[in-house]
Amino acid sequence: MPDEVATQEEKIKSAEELSQHQKAISISEFFEKNRHLLGYDNKTKALMIIVKEGVDNSLDACEEARILPDITVKIEELEKEKYKIIIKDNGPGIVKKQIPKIFGTLLYGSKFHRLRQSRGQQGLGISCGVLYSQLTTGEATEIASSTGKEEIHKYTLKIDVKKNEPVILNEKSEANPHKWRGTRISFVAEGIYREHKQSVLEYLKETAISNPFANFIFESPSGKLEFRRGVEKLPIIPKEIKPHLYGVEVGLFTRMLNETSARSISGFLTTEFSRIGATTATEILKKAQIDPKISPRRTTDENIVNIVKAVKEVKLSKPPTDCLSPLGEKAITKGLQKELSPDFVASVTRSPAVYRGWPFQIEVGIAFGGTIAEANFMRFANRVPLLYQQGSCALTRSAASVDWKRYGLDADKLPKGPIVLMVHICSVWVPFTSESKEAVASYPIIVKETKLAFQDAARKLSLYLSGIRRAERIAERKRIFERYAIETARALQELTGEDEKKIKGMIATVVEKRWGEVVDSPSGNGPTDGD
Ligand SMILES: Nc1ncnc2c1ncn2[C@@H]1O[C@H](COP(=O)(O)OP(=O)(O)OP(=O)(O)O)[C@@H](O)[C@H]1O
Ligand SMILES: [Mg+2]
Repeated sequence: MPDEVATQEEKIKSAEELSQHQKAISISEFFEKNRHLLGYDNKTKALMIIVKEGVDNSLDACEEARILPDITVKIEELEKEKYKIIIKDNGPGIVKKQIPKIFGTLLYGSKFHRLRQSRGQQGLGISCGVLYSQLTTGEATEIASSTGKEEIHKYTLKIDVKKNEPVILNEKSEANPHKWRGTRISFVAEGIYREHKQSVLEYLKETAISNPFANFIFESPSGKLEFRRGVEKLPIIPKEIKPHLYGVEVGLFTRMLNETSARSISGFLTTEFSRIGATTATEILKKAQIDPKISPRRTTDENIVNIVKAVKEVKLSKPPTDCLSPLGEKAITKGLQKELSPDFVASVTRSPAVYRGWPFQIEVGIAFGGTIAEANFMRFANRVPLLYQQGSCALTRSAASVDWKRYGLDADKLPKGPIVLMVHICSVWVPFTSESKEAVASYPIIVKETKLAFQDAARKLSLYLSGIRRAERIAERKRIFERYAIETARALQELTGEDEKKIKGMIATVVEKRWGEVVDSPSGNGPTDGD
């Protein structure tokens, strides 16, 4: 008898007995066991993630409040593999009663329910930093925040993992004589500080490229450095949009029906979704065989399934795209020039496109030569650098599918040599492959848009490179002619009896006239484009 089959003697357990172990799991307990899902799977990466969650929030808050960001990050080694991590911003601050909830509750935030491009979207980032700190060192997190008025509010807190609630260990409000405004967070967490490709330093360097309007000071264990702001203007604030019917499934549709204040199903469609006019609503409801005047509360499950089916048969207008805030070709060029000092930059911002009803936009930059020592590929989502899971990201796969050799580049999937590629996806909802927000899912339209953008930028680079190569060929020919000018002049003197010096002068004039100009301006189109 096989092992897995119960023997006669073994007592069969009843469903009642098994039910004693069945209970709800708090989200904090879940992530306590599964912190790798949030990216906390090694000590070096942990430091980077904590900094990233803090800085992303500071940038989001500053951008929303229309404040030019001044952000300081400090990492101090307390003992072996134990660090104090401080992130301080000059943002709008956080009102007193929200501080414990934001830092002491997982899945608490302002961005999940709205459809607007921002760095954060889940309501998990900063509280998970608090959770990781207390799990690895047992230490509480300290927060100080002020809205710039009379008081600075200070909290020391941990998370009650069973209840997913803050545990406040200390709370006080102090006078704010200098009207300081902003937020300062201090974590004590286990980690390893390194300065390699996937480190805090690289995250800050790439963040400075994609956010040239922000100023960063980094006080690291190996010294202090500053990434200065390159532009004095914040990007335009992206507009909030409503969901698009193409992306809506039965579950979400049902929930929205229960929450709407619309009186009729027709009104519900036109007010709660983007780009649905009365004519389109009538067409959908006719196909679904539903009375347009019926109240949203009275729609049956069958009605809902029929509407969702009918939506697929009706041609809908694309969602609006003013909800997107791409970097733009100028900012990409500036950012890459500022941090990499290359000889040439090509940048391309594609027109917006749509995946599953969500608008998104792809833009790329290619920097070449100058001080670039080795090839690098940088990915960004809503201006946030993605430093991990490069291989499983749709943006990488797409870049690797470009035939780089066609554009005169040495390549092995991705180009080699002194070249940096960057790609930015911006969207109201970036389709990450997991909660750690490290890789983008492979929607075919995203892969296609990325490839087209890289091909376009590669064409610009290849024009530049062919200019340089042509100039190099001509300069070489000019050098050869000049080398042989002496012998040629002597030979011609013997043949013709003309003065050798005069002949030499004539050859030099011909060479200069023929190739001099071309050699002086190798590229013919200047060092950068996109300006
Ligand atoms: N430095 C800050 N200044 C002002 N508000 C902040 C700051 N940090 C966090 N917040 C507020 O706290 C909320 C929760 O932050 P948290 O990082 O946990 O989630 P999120 O940014 O919304 O999403 P994600 O999990 O994707 O990061 C934010 O939505 C924002 O409203
Ligand atoms: Mg966040």
